[in-house]
Amino acid sequence: MGKSAVSANLATALALGGWRVGVLDADLNGPSMAKMLGVRGRRLQITPGGVEPPATAQGVAVMSMDLLLPTDDAPLTWEAPSQEEAHTWRGAMEANALREFLADTEWGALDALVIDLPPGTDRLATVAAIVPKLSGTVIVTIPSEVSHLVVRKSITVAARTGAPILGLVENMTGLFPATDAAALAASTGIPFLGSVPFDPALALAADRGDPFVASAPDHDAARALTQIASEVRRTLESTA
Ligand SMILES: Nc1ncnc2c1ncn2[C@@H]1O[C@H](COP(=O)(O)OP(=O)(O)OP(=O)(O)O)[C@@H](O)[C@H]1O
Ligand SMILES: [Mg+2]
Repeated sequence: MGKSAVSANLATALALGGWRVGVLDADLNGPSMAKMLGVRGRRLQITPGGVEPPATAQGVAVMSMDLLLPTDDAPLTWEAPSQEEAHTWRGAMEANALREFLADTEWGALDALVIDLPPGTDRLATVAAIVPKLSGTVIVTIPSEVSHLVVRKSITVAARTGAPILGLVENMTGLFPATDAAALAASTGIPFLGSVPFDPALALAADRGDPFVASAPDHDAARALTQIASEVRRTLESTA
């Protein structure tokens, strides 16, 4: 839990560190990146090269289905004659939608594109197949056994993409009875990136569209996220 909050803050921390960063919201049905990064309602500029994504105050370029949907209540729906057909087509349609998002967005030169995935493990394979080269995956867990169980499966799926697993982030530390995320990382052979404490101010900042690493850099949760971003950057630079 907290994948999107981690994505938004990771992207912002990388941008604050001088990287040119884009965010692709791969959660088509529950997009949250535009909101968390404060670009909701901004107009998309159509240019000859494609659609120009709105940029955050820290310069993060954001592309999300949210920027295309007409109203707050409108979900993304695929029209099909029957529910069964809708289901069959959905996977293919969503893969196409993501492919177009990537291709038709005028990202400019980027040092990193952060992709926020929806819950579940199935979208990762789609994304891995679409992006030219997936540099790595970051796994987010919360300190609960249920989350750890789900995350073990995600680690297996992430390993299958062939891209390096950059590491495991424990989010909302302190909110739940402690379970050892560092041990989970060790037992699955992936790096442990750190723990982000639960902080209601972080959630409020996300609701305001003001990434915590930028608005409250001295808070523990922001420090942890900034530290995690440096670690991710270091790994990406050493493997590039
Ligand atoms: N460390 C934290 N402290 C406090 N609130 C947090 C923290 N991390 C995330 N949140 C808040 O918890 C809520 C859920 O987080 P988020 O949307 O990032 O989860 P998610 O894993 O992306 O969910 P989904 O699976 O629905 O995409 C949000 O309101 C977010 O701002
Ligand atoms: Mg999310």
